Amino acid sequence: MVKTAFIGAGRMASAIVDGLIAKSPDEKSKIRCFSASGTSATALSQRTGISHADDLPALLADAEVVVVAFKPQHLASADPRLAELTAGKIVLSVLAAKTVAQLATVFPRARNIIRTMPNTPSAIGAGITGWCAKNELSEDDRTVVVSLLGAIGREIEILESKIDGLMGVSGCGPAFVFEFTASLRDGGVAAGLTLEEAEQLAIETVLGSARLMARSSLSPEELRNQVTSPHGTTYAGLQRMAAHDIRGIMKEAVLAAKARSEELSRTS
Ligand SMILES: NC(=O)c1ccc[n+]([C@@H]2O[C@H](COP(=O)([O-])OP(=O)(O)OC[C@H]3O[C@@H](n4cnc5c(N)ncnc54)[C@H](OP(=O)(O)O)[C@@H]3O)[C@@H](O)[C@H]2O)c1
Repeated sequence: MVKTAFIGAGRMASAIVDGLIAKSPDEKSKIRCFSASGTSATALSQRTGISHADDLPALLADAEVVVVAFKPQHLASADPRLAELTAGKIVLSVLAAKTVAQLATVFPRARNIIRTMPNTPSAIGAGITGWCAKNELSEDDRTVVVSLLGAIGREIEILESKIDGLMGVSGCGPAFVFEFTASLRDGGVAAGLTLEEAEQLAIETVLGSARLMARSSLSPEELRNQVTSPHGTTYAGLQRMAAHDIRGIMKEAVLAAKARSEELSRTS
């Protein structure tokens, strides 16, 4: 009996499949995938041991949950048979900027539609996924959704009206953190370290600080204050960051990403 069917077998589908199998290896026999050319579906099934289907009816016949994991631009040309083939099933989409209403035109008879916004650390099980459901979820269906998204990290249920804002923080946030890390590294090079030394120090510092924030009950500001003595070294650096309005810059970055996400939802 196939429980979870993936339409699309690329990076995001792989991350979820890896997470599901890592959590319970027996799930392998209950997962099937399909992709347009068959290339990525064959590769995913060979790598993980899940099965793959050659067409949508074979993929979906006995599926309970359908994970939609192709590129957002392919939704408009999705196979019209999907309307019937997903009747009565839970459809969970990872398509960026595709609203529940847009998804409902392709999956009108689904039992429920879940719109999700994962982020790239999902690939190593360290993601944070925002999600919302079309209809109120039964307890059983909520367990299914939470367990599926839990396979790639943490999850947070959020109003659909806030998903574009979430995109600006957690969707695009990894790239903002990568950019910050590169800037910290470049600062180290300017301070006389080699590129390799500076990069290792910058990455480990971001990683360790993130772990500390996640474990601590203190806010980021309180943790910052703990390592900032008046007129000390950290204070000197923070003064420069404030002079360039780092907070204003980050707010602008998040709002620009949110605006672009809204625009993509309207126009795609
Ligand atoms: N990667 C991320 O970190 C990330 C984060 C958040 C959200 N997402 C979302 O995840 C989705 C997938 O992204 P990805 O990075 O996994 O893309 P990807 O690696 O390029 O994979 C796309 C997959 O879709 C398949 N495909 C293309 N057209 C199809 C169709 N008409 N029917 C069925 N399958 C089709 C491709 O199959 P073949 O190549 O075998 O034809 C491939 O398996 C996107 O909607 C994206 O918005 C991704």
